[in-house]
Amino acid sequence: MIRGKSISILLLFIFLISCSQDKSTQNQVTTLKRTAEELVASKKTSDMSYKQLMNILNSGSVMVHQGILIENKQMVIEGAGLILNHAAPKENPWIIMNKQDQEEFKNSLLAYDIVLDNYARAIAEESKKENWLEASNKSHELMNSCIVCHSMWKHKVK
Ligand code: HEC
Repeated sequence: MIRGKSISILLLFIFLISCSQDKSTQNQVTTLKRTAEELVASKKTSDMSYKQLMNILNSGSVMVHQGILIENKQMVIEGAGLILNHAAPKENPWIIMNKQDQEEFKNSLLAYDIVLDNYARAIAEESKKENWLEASNKSHELMNSCIVCHSMWKHKVK
């Protein structure tokens, strides 16, 4: 009797796990299928340039960094929010590149939007738990992602 019960609990558990995996694969597929045009359309509109957007991301990472240093959770959360909730620039970001580079730059925009958001979320979560060392490790990885994209693209701006 007890055995039967634990087997059904086990089956329920496996069922729940498989459901959640299904969902995450689906999410992944929709994320991968998203186009750069859809990404831009999903953001709030603004009248700023791509450079001005970059300066907002910069302010966000400075706040994240300082918040971790002085152990101010709210400062970290608000800094991460600047990265997570930024608006789209007034013109499509890929127009800063030459025509032949635009498709590839769109791929970077899509990929790095996810990468930056994931780090910003993780940093906020770790700070909420006062795991300052882990928050700091993640903030270095965040900054490194910015720099990787810069090393690939800044010299190609027309
Ligand atoms: C998708 C690639 C990409 C990612 C990711 C990225 N950047 Fe940039 N960034 C650029 C490009 C391209 C420029 C040059 C823009 C220009 O000259 O018009 C730039 C420029 C900048 C500038 C200089 C702006 C100015 O006024 O000259 C800053 C500051 C900056 N980025 C900060 C960041 C920070 C902080 C992050 C990460 C949180 C980040 N960027 C992530 C592509 C990226």
